[in-house]
Amino acid sequence: MTDSSRLDGQVAIVTGAGQGIGQGIAKVLAGAGAKIVIGDLQDSATTVGQITDAGGQAVSMNMDTSNPDDAKNLVQFAIDSYGKLDVLVNNAAIDAPDGNAWDLPLDEWRRTIDVNVSGVFYCCQAALQPMLEQGSGVIVSISSRSAIFGAEGVSPAYNASKAAVLGLTMSLSKQVSDKGVRVNAIMPSLIESRDFGWTPEERAERISHYPLGVGAPSDVGEAVRYLVSPAARWVSGTALQITGGFQG
Ligand SMILES: NC(=O)c1ccc[n+]([C@@H]2O[C@H](COP(=O)([O-])OP(=O)(O)OC[C@H]3O[C@@H](n4cnc5c(N)ncnc54)[C@H](O)[C@@H]3O)[C@@H](O)[C@H]2O)c1
Repeated sequence: MTDSSRLDGQVAIVTGAGQGIGQGIAKVLAGAGAKIVIGDLQDSATTVGQITDAGGQAVSMNMDTSNPDDAKNLVQFAIDSYGKLDVLVNNAAIDAPDGNAWDLPLDEWRRTIDVNVSGVFYCCQAALQPMLEQGSGVIVSISSRSAIFGAEGVSPAYNASKAAVLGLTMSLSKQVSDKGVRVNAIMPSLIESRDFGWTPEERAERISHYPLGVGAPSDVGEAVRYLVSPAARWVSGTALQITGGFQG
């Protein structure tokens, strides 16, 4: 019997997989059999090494998702490396510094929208070329639960950018699902993707909101794995919330 959660032979781009959630996604997809292509501002040799040490396949290139030429080059790099492109995971994003709308520096607003919205669009546009030609493909973009609920201490630029990712996801799904390409988003709550600099008291307070504890990068990876797998063949235009049971 075929395991519909396996990704053997599939080629998957994961942006921002040099660390954090993207690294977790790349490792889960590689473990399910996908060949991984990483695009990140920073060197991603650590992630590539972890995947290849575990017997998987991965390559990486330094690029900036907010540069449309870099997005096209990343897609071409995937095709040159592994012959095709099946999956795009838009994970790269920046956290704008905390700030109130009334005194948010406009360059921070613009950079957040450039990376978190335009960067996702550029990568989708570039990836859709080969996907539409082959009549198949899957796109998953990492939004955030803060897109629709806001989040304390988070810049409105970040929350607005993550809401835009949801709008883009729904719009693309309408345009390409009947052409064989599925498009979905994931809305995580708190994922302990790096050292957030919390005191033990602050960490305990944060965690207290989550009945299942805070999430790990691999939790997002498993959600991505489902959405890109054949098991989700009838799923498009969806935003999957993964919240550790938090419902506030
Ligand atoms: N950590 C959380 O609690 C949380 C919750 C909800 C959603 N998210 C989302 O998950 C994703 C990953 O978050 P994280 O916590 O792992 O972030 P992170 O800051 O730890 O990692 C982001 C990665 O993206 C790369 N990157 C940033 N800008 C880039 C650009 N322009 N081009 C290419 N690469 C770029 C960085 O170099 C880094 O490797 C983001 O989309 C974030 O908004 C995170």
